Amino acid sequence: MTDPDAEIARAVSALRAGELVAFPTETVYGLGADARNADAVRRIFTLKGRPPGHPLIVHLATGAQVGEWAQHVPEPARRLAAHFWPGPLTLIVPRAAGVLDELTGGQATIALRVPSHPLAQRLLAAFGGAIAAPSANRYGRVSPTTAAHVREEFGPLVPIVLDGGASSVGLESTIVSCLEEPLLLRPGGITVPELEAVVGPVRRAERGEGPPAPGRAAAHYAPQTPLTLATGAAFAAATLAPQIAVLAHGPARAGFGGRLWIDAGRDAQQYGHDLYANLRRLDRSGADAIVVEAPPGGPAWEAVRDRLARAAAACGAEEIA
Ligand code: TXA
Ligand code: MG
Repeated sequence: MTDPDAEIARAVSALRAGELVAFPTETVYGLGADARNADAVRRIFTLKGRPPGHPLIVHLATGAQVGEWAQHVPEPARRLAAHFWPGPLTLIVPRAAGVLDELTGGQATIALRVPSHPLAQRLLAAFGGAIAAPSANRYGRVSPTTAAHVREEFGPLVPIVLDGGASSVGLESTIVSCLEEPLLLRPGGITVPELEAVVGPVRRAERGEGPPAPGRAAAHYAPQTPLTLATGAAFAAATLAPQIAVLAHGPARAGFGGRLWIDAGRDAQQYGHDLYANLRRLDRSGADAIVVEAPPGGPAWEAVRDRLARAAAACGAEEIA
């Protein structure tokens, strides 16, 4: 089916029938369910293999719907929403009465986001309700940034995958808890300085602070091949191994004899956009290990550093200095 109107109509019927639909957002592809249908929401957990109790993000067509989901909207959340929605920002606010426990893990808060991807916007507008959606990958695996990634992940188990091309941001949304002072729970498409320009100081959550959350587990976003991070001489030495796959900030060194070398460049946005597709390529290369040249410091690279550190942690490897 290539007629987008017909595809949206089919996706809306499926959501109304309590089925799951994969759809593009500007961050990553989501695996969506009607956020008012408990059975449909439970199906997300089953399909992903996601532990119950880990809360989901509720996607809305516009900020005007927030009142149906939030008990109230604290001032910082109001300002951030006005500035960054639609876009790659998720806000944690007190949940309204009647919100399904399945969405919130039984917590008193809810995660809300208005995505900007045109196809997500059209789907949400046509559906009329809210769509609960995690990233459309199996639990702990690399998030999908294309429709093909979703099909690789779930095949016929998710028959409806709306294809909106490659996600423009490529990394998950920034998550800010707005219960008291703004607290960064997950770095993402919007950087801390960008947030702070709108709302003043944003504190970064300590490890273990805030609710238990799958995306915040140290081990997450991982390819199946063991991955290590390295810089300088340790990086150069690691690339000498014969069966290695490398993700670097520059071209392959002369005489590289490994499986695959990807030059992901030095532009943080481009690097983030390509990261998950690159991890999938490295994983498929047949290498017995992946070595990643550690990215630079600074806020523009924070989300990339976070995802790579988690991928390395998932493999039980420590960063090589
Ligand atoms: O970019 C994104 O955010 C993508 C697209 C599809 O919107 N979604 C996504 O969902 O990354 P997921 O389920 O993979 O990650 C959602 C994150 C998890 O870390 C979850 O724990 C956190 O949001 N979260 C959800 N509700 C929360 C709450 N009430 N309090 C704290 N964290 C929450
Ligand atoms: Mg995820």
